[in-house]
Amino acid sequence: MKKNIRIALDGPAAAGKSTAAKKIAEKLGFIYIDTGAMYRTLTYKALKNQIEPKNEQELYTLLMNTVIELKPGSDGQLVFLDGEEVTSEIRQQDVTKNVSDVALHQLVRTEMVRRQQELVKNGGIVMDGRDIGTAVIPDAELKVFMSATAEERAKRRYEEHKKQGIHSDFNQLKAEIEQRDHIDSTRAVSPLVKAHDAVELDTTHMSISDVVNKVTALAAERGATI
Ligand code: DC
Repeated sequence: MKKNIRIALDGPAAAGKSTAAKKIAEKLGFIYIDTGAMYRTLTYKALKNQIEPKNEQELYTLLMNTVIELKPGSDGQLVFLDGEEVTSEIRQQDVTKNVSDVALHQLVRTEMVRRQQELVKNGGIVMDGRDIGTAVIPDAELKVFMSATAEERAKRRYEEHKKQGIHSDFNQLKAEIEQRDHIDSTRAVSPLVKAHDAVELDTTHMSISDVVNKVTALAAERGATI
């Protein structure tokens, strides 16, 4: 019988977590949950409602009146905000620029973590984010912390944009990634840190399939069937 373990995948912006997580989940027959999408969805709604990303109380009230649903689609996770699909809208530049500020707040994080913990109850999941191994599933059977140099992550993001026909400035992408790393790792509430019992994977010189093979092998060691 397949063991429904829980895999926590953390790491900085653009480290390839979502791409890897999606493929790992496919290989194991697990559900994939991208928690960054939840913070992005709240940010998208806040911007639409002209709520300042720094206004904790208003953001919290907004969140308490917001339904965020993550559903599996044929090409990855689909995201719904109050019943409407926003999968591509939440990847827009203004959302990316503001999401780290929204994710700073204690009230917002406590509620997001509560919702995420509901989603992992039954196991058989790969969840990616920044605080999965430290706050959301501190007792996950497998924790992986994926890193890569900012230069390499900016390069990957640049190539990804190029494939989508989006022109971007490499230096600006790199600066934005470094800025997000800084906010995410220095915030007071559950900053981005490697859990003490996480396996660290420096993916700078690894391909996506190297990462997928490595993580599925680690999952197999912990009882998941491939
Ligand atoms: O993974 P991503 O780039 O879509 O995440 C967007 C932002 O959300 C990121 O800058 C930090 C925040 N985030 C977080 O604080 N905690 C998580 N579990 C996931 C994302």
